[in-house]
Amino acid sequence: MLHNQFSEGSESISINSGVIHYSEQVQENINFNGIVFKPNFDEDAYLPKRDWRKLNAEEIKILQPNKKKNDSNTIYLGEIPDDLKKLYQNMKLTDCNNRNEVFAKFRENERATIELNSSMANFLMTLSNNKPFKIHFLGSNFPNLEVVACDTTVLPKGYTEKDMKFLGIHNDGTQYVSTYKLYTSGNRLTINLGNQDRYFFFINITLTQALNMLKEKISVKEHEIDITNIAKYYFKYFPDYPIIKIKQKPYHYYIAPTDNCFHDGSTLGNTDLDVIIVYFGAFQF
Ligand SMILES: [Fe+2]
Repeated sequence: MLHNQFSEGSESISINSGVIHYSEQVQENINFNGIVFKPNFDEDAYLPKRDWRKLNAEEIKILQPNKKKNDSNTIYLGEIPDDLKKLYQNMKLTDCNNRNEVFAKFRENERATIELNSSMANFLMTLSNNKPFKIHFLGSNFPNLEVVACDTTVLPKGYTEKDMKFLGIHNDGTQYVSTYKLYTSGNRLTINLGNQDRYFFFINITLTQALNMLKEKISVKEHEIDITNIAKYYFKYFPDYPIIKIKQKPYHYYIAPTDNCFHDGSTLGNTDLDVIIVYFGAFQF
């Protein structure tokens, strides 16, 4: 389900006709800050097809939240309060050209960082449902990347964007959980701290639903399907299931159960560094 409190309503939402294996989609060079490269992908990476269109009335209705909405089955969209936005604007993160410059802004502005932390905590408290939350990361992505997620833990120290292997549409997970227990994993809140719009892709089914769909096609026991390989099998058998794309303007946030649904971010078409901050919690409103 999609609970949307963006002021522009459903204007920021589009839908397509599914995914395509990365090898079948033409990739252009990324060219930013003197670094030029063609993105590399994981061998099982699937990307959204580029046939985006507005949703029709029936599709909008399907995504409408109902009383069962919670932190494990719903994407929430909203905008951070004006005072918090001002504090981030004062940090001048949009001047940054790489992630080290982003970190330096916080280090150089200790007082402002402390004020930001406390304002952020107050804001997150209003969404936390009395459950614990914590920062996950502050980071950046190059502009003009069709998908941004990559497993950086397997990269060499001092890696650059050229070394990255993008995962394509995927599910998160920092430790092993049974697919049936993913509803207990909580969710993530991601704020766009950059200068330009960015995008969030998701598929409107939980991983349990994806597993049940796969059971109709193959033996999930025989193929040992779990959270580490479910995306590969799902996209092989259901490439035509549509992706929803959300336009996330600067200082807009999304909350998503990213362990429990297929998703990714995108900076396609952008020219400036993408800056985001991500919190773990069990957020809802
Ligand atoms: Fe992710």
